[in-house]
Amino acid sequence: PHVSMIISAPDFERVAKSVLPHKAWVYASSSANTGLSLKTNLSDWSRINFRPRVLRNVGDVDTRRSILGQRSQYPFYISPMGTLGVIHPEAEPEMVRGAVRKGIHMVVSTASTKPTVQIMQTYVDEEKRVKGASPSKLFFQFYMPINRNKAYALLGVVKKAGYKGLWITVDTPVLGKRTADRVLQAEEALAVGVEEDSTAKWEAGNENTFAPAIGGRVATGQLSPHTTWEDLLWIRKEWNGPIVLKGIQCAEDAKLALEYGCQGILLSNHGGRQAHSAPSSLLTLLEIRTYCPEVIEKLEIYLDGGLRDGADVLKALCLGATAVGVGRPYLYALAAYGSQGVERCTDVLSEELATGMRLLGVTSLDQLRPEMVNMTPLLNE
Ligand code: FNR
Repeated sequence: PHVSMIISAPDFERVAKSVLPHKAWVYASSSANTGLSLKTNLSDWSRINFRPRVLRNVGDVDTRRSILGQRSQYPFYISPMGTLGVIHPEAEPEMVRGAVRKGIHMVVSTASTKPTVQIMQTYVDEEKRVKGASPSKLFFQFYMPINRNKAYALLGVVKKAGYKGLWITVDTPVLGKRTADRVLQAEEALAVGVEEDSTAKWEAGNENTFAPAIGGRVATGQLSPHTTWEDLLWIRKEWNGPIVLKGIQCAEDAKLALEYGCQGILLSNHGGRQAHSAPSSLLTLLEIRTYCPEVIEKLEIYLDGGLRDGADVLKALCLGATAVGVGRPYLYALAAYGSQGVERCTDVLSEELATGMRLLGVTSLDQLRPEMVNMTPLLNE
């Protein structure tokens, strides 16, 4: 269908499935073990509902929000996703073009197909080209390499390239059991999508190690299963910009992130691709609200996983999230329509967001409150 026929973000999935090579589809859609966490990511958002207020003059609404100090037109951004070369021939730069044109921020993955510097150059060029559009920014998602020197070098490249913040993924000491990938032995398919000078290869010592790990083994030379909280201290020295820990899944770790001086935490179970039976980010957020509400006051709270509608974004913000990440809908949009799809996905979500605000009775995001959602169905089941 023509891109204008896409009315809701989940519509991209069907189109992506029909255009992607089967192996790429499996890479994008797969999840850990039985798929339990992926399912609850999607269903938990529909288990809480709004308590809309009426008669509140909602003629003009303002959807703007700062994300890690960078002004954004919307309270959502594109989640980091690796190896986009298997999804679209122009990979990450194509995603960046769509993001820039709609003024939405994006987090670039360590496991990108194209080099970190090239992705940033695309951003700079596109920003110049569409001057006047709402400004977007690029952040960098950092996987801790097993080799400390490589980690230093990578951080240096990222800093020099001008990325605005570091999102350290902490839920991946080893890759989760990606059931469907294993069935298909998708390693070879991924290898095709990684170019000679990509961050992925460079960083991994010139071998493609982003193939799904077998049985939770450590991907050689890439992910470090040895990383601890203490490593944040030297990363802090190398990187003087803001740091978000991506993949916090319980209240205790949220508190530790605060103690270790992070600017933010991202509640996430990696789109249901890592720990089997991990909580949805919504449940983790509720746990933090109960056991350490001070964390929500002191840190920026991000979350991702299963957000498919502007209304889901609003629910997260009512409960204290600063902004949220959207993953697969953007990936499927890229697969189906390239950067045009990425633009469309932003339009769809932002329109739902603005309509949702009006129907909830608010005109700016800082009016959102916990009492605007009813959590009884989720908590009493
Ligand atoms: C991911 N995700 C991810 N996260 C990360 O920190 N580094 C990465 O390289 C990747 N790669 C990646 C590839 C693919 C194909 C997917 C689907 C996901 C996780 C991603 O950042 C995010 O946490 C989830 O995708 C959010 O869930 P939804 O929106 O996809 O449901």
